[in-house]
Amino acid sequence: MRHHHALKIPRWQKRWLYTGFALLLLSGLPWLLLHYGRDADALPTTGEAWLMRLHGLASMFCLLGLGMLTSSHLLPGWRLSGRMGWAQQRSTGLWVSVSLALCVLLAYGLSYMFPESLHAGAGWAHAGTAVMALSSWWRHRRLARRHVAANVAAARVQMPTRK
Ligand code: HEM
Ligand code: HEM
Repeated sequence: MRHHHALKIPRWQKRWLYTGFALLLLSGLPWLLLHYGRDADALPTTGEAWLMRLHGLASMFCLLGLGMLTSSHLLPGWRLSGRMGWAQQRSTGLWVSVSLALCVLLAYGLSYMFPESLHAGAGWAHAGTAVMALSSWWRHRRLARRHVAANVAAARVQMPTRK
């Protein structure tokens, strides 16, 4: 049981990531509305520019959080899920990680590499991988809750025989 709780992501790290992600969503989604809501030949609005400035800042904040999560959760989570035989916990965790990695690589390409002709498609793919990461994360989190509930039940059954 103790090793199980040792894996819990520290609350401040969770808040860090949730705040970062919320800011990414709150800047990325309205940007899509503004950008694709205006005439294609109209000039970008100042709103769009500020939303992307906020988005870029939030993305750096989020990357720092993901770095912390790698050492506090990914590596120990990989070992624990293997030991406990939690295949689905591992595969959903892997999906979150892979879709986030793609999301970040696409963001890099958007910032520094892709030609204008690729930009719109890559932008949508970037937002799409982010949504994919969120939905796998949701499943990953629900599965973990089930493990916690099962563990609590098992602990109760064992109680009377414990010295
Ligand atoms: C290969 C990658 C990953 C593996 C092997 C993995 C493994 C695990 C395991 C074994 C648990 C259950 C732990 C417990 O019940 O205490 C868990 C819970 C959880 N994981 Fe992951 N994980 C991975 C990636 C991620 C990522 C990328 C995120 C978020 C961005 C994440 C977020 C969570 C959350 C929120 C929980 C619920 C437990 C808590 O709130 O502390 N995991 N993970
Ligand atoms: C949470 C959900 C997210 C949504 C909805 C979202 C959405 C978007 C959108 C719509 C764009 C503009 C794309 C274009 O120019 O066509 C964008 C750009 C960008 N995103 Fe995200 N994104 C998200 C998450 C992330 C994450 C996790 C990162 C990195 C950690 C990131 C980093 C960036 C960067 C650096 C750009 C600037 C690209 C440029 O210079 O044009 N985003 N995002």
